[in-house]
Amino acid sequence: MSWSFKKFDVLPESKFLLWEKLLEARTGIQLASQQKVLLQTQIAIRMRELNITSYDDYYDQVKQDNKAGLIEWQILVDRLVVKETTFFRHRPSLDFVCQYLKNKIDQKTLHDSFDIWSVGCSTGEEPYGLAMLVNDCLEKSQEHFYFGITAVDVSLPVLSIARRGVYGERSLAFVNEEERQRYFRPHDEQHLEVLPRLKKRVCFSQANINKLNVMPVQLMDVVFCQNVLIYFRRWRRREILNQLVNRLKPGGLLIIGLGETTDWQHEEMQRVDNDEVQAYIKRI
Ligand SMILES: C[S@@+](CC[C@H](N)C(=O)[O-])C[C@H]1O[C@@H](n2cnc3c(N)ncnc32)[C@H](O)[C@@H]1O
Repeated sequence: MSWSFKKFDVLPESKFLLWEKLLEARTGIQLASQQKVLLQTQIAIRMRELNITSYDDYYDQVKQDNKAGLIEWQILVDRLVVKETTFFRHRPSLDFVCQYLKNKIDQKTLHDSFDIWSVGCSTGEEPYGLAMLVNDCLEKSQEHFYFGITAVDVSLPVLSIARRGVYGERSLAFVNEEERQRYFRPHDEQHLEVLPRLKKRVCFSQANINKLNVMPVQLMDVVFCQNVLIYFRRWRRREILNQLVNRLKPGGLLIIGLGETTDWQHEEMQRVDNDEVQAYIKRI
C-alpha cells in the first residue's frame, strides 16, 4: 500500500485547540467542536499532498512567517471556510438596498456615485446580484449616476471564481428567467456568464475583516455583510460592526444577515424598523 493512503492518527484535542486558536486569531472564524472532523480531514488531505507525516511539522510550516508559510495558510483557509452562497440569497435585503437607493434619488441626496461594499463575497453571486438590482434601479429612474461595488473575501480561490463570473444551476436557483435573459449570456450548456458590463462594476480584492484597520478607507453608501459574522464570536462580531460603521458615509446603510447579531447597538446607527431585514442607517 502506498504511504499516501495511510490513515493519520486522530488529531489530539490539544493540537485541535492549537489549530482552532490559530484560525480564530488570524481570521476571526470560530470552529465549532463538531468541525474538528472537518479540520482534521482538511489538514490530513493537505499533509498527504505535501508528503508530510506529522501534524507538528505541518503546523510549523503553516506558522512560518515567510512566503511559503503564507501560501500554505491561504490554501488551508480556503479549505476551512464555509463558502456557500447563491444569487439573490436573501431577496428582502437586496430589495431594501434598491429601496434605499430609490429614496436617495427621489430626495436628491445621491451625489457623484453609489458605492457598495460586499464583505465576505465568496464566489461573487452576492456582489453581482447587487450590481444587477442597482443597475435596474438606476435604469428605471433614468439617472446616470456611477455605481461601483467593492467585493472582498479572505479566500483567494473564491475570488478568482468570482472574477470569472461563470455559474451553474446551483448558484442560479433563485434567478428567474427574465433575470437570466437580462444579466447573463450563455457560457456552455450548463453555465451562464455574468454580462461584461456588470462585471465591470464589481472589483474583487482580498481582505480579512478581522484586520479592517489595515484596509484603505473609502467611505461607502452601503456595507452588505451577510452570513459571515455568524462564524465569529459575539464580541468579535460587535467589534467588526463597530469598525464597519467607520466605513459608511453619513446616512449610509449597513445590512447584515437576519439575527446575525442581537446585542449590537451603536450611537451613530439607527436600526431600521423592518422584520424582514437587519439594517442600520448611519445618523447624519
Ligand atoms: C457563507 S459565505 C457567505 C457569502 C455571501 N456573503 C452570502 O451571504 O451568500 C462566507 C464567506 O465569508 C468569508 N470569510 C470568512 N472569514 C472572513 C474574514 N475574516 N474576512 C473576509 N472574509 C471572510 C469566507 O471565505 C466565505 O467566502
